Amino acid sequence: MRNVTKDNITDVFKSYMSADMDPRTREIMGSLVQHLHDFARETKLTHDEWRQGIAFLEGCAAIETEDRHEFVLASDVLGLSSLVDMLHSRDDATSSSVLGPFHVSGAPPLAVGGDMKRHFGGPVLLAEGVIRDTEGNPIPNAVIDIWQTAPNGLYASQDEDQDTFSFHGLMTVGADGRYAFTTVKPVEYTVPSDGPVGAILNACGRHPWRPSHLHYIVTAPGYRSLVTEVFPDDDQYLDQDTVFGVREDLVMSYETKPASAFPAGLELSGKVVDPFLYVSFDVTLAPDDT
Ligand code: BEZ
Ligand code: FE
Repeated sequence: MRNVTKDNITDVFKSYMSADMDPRTREIMGSLVQHLHDFARETKLTHDEWRQGIAFLEGCAAIETEDRHEFVLASDVLGLSSLVDMLHSRDDATSSSVLGPFHVSGAPPLAVGGDMKRHFGGPVLLAEGVIRDTEGNPIPNAVIDIWQTAPNGLYASQDEDQDTFSFHGLMTVGADGRYAFTTVKPVEYTVPSDGPVGAILNACGRHPWRPSHLHYIVTAPGYRSLVTEVFPDDDQYLDQDTVFGVREDLVMSYETKPASAFPAGLELSGKVVDPFLYVSFDVTLAPDDT
């Protein structure tokens, strides 16, 4: 085409794609370019604004390292990560939520009833629940990969003062599908905001805070793996999570209980002398039939 105009350029782009290309790539690239072109036409994007967009992408690339994933963070704060998650979440299972960049694979085993709090300060939080299938039956031997922030708001991967697997644990549930562990209540924290994504948040008048949460990846043979989070219902950032990760069924009440109510059979049984927090959170996994 030698007569490209602002009105036909989208169709021209589509006509340049080869007839024998992968059909899904055709659909995705066609739709992406359609929306990009519509966006530029609708907003009458100026050269200067286009340059700012390119500078944003270059800024993300410039600080990208093994530990800093600015493009993923951009997707998170724009809501794209959560939207993709929700598009593929099953209604009959526990909602999924964002993975985030701070999970460290290969955590050491944590026995059912084990403790992740160790020497860290703050009230004990006892979290427990059952991993079930969509019929309500426990799933024996399901595995939960658990991680969270330390009381200073940092994940182990961000904090030189923590061990590699601090506040990480890999728990295999028993025949009853039940998990339980003690920890400290996670705290609210900010996503990294000293880079180009922070500048976007700032330009939009947004803050970088996430409500406090526990992260779980729950897996079991024959079931869809679930990446999810558990939030306390009294967190001030529940209704404005900067990465859009909160779902109604992931918000739980954290009860305060007297030390005398701490159950037997856990690693900290007999050692808890102050009131503790308790959260019960059952997880439903969908069958892996898709
Ligand atoms: C997190 O929850 O760990 C997280 C999620 C998205 C972006 C940054 C952090
Ligand atoms: Fe997190």
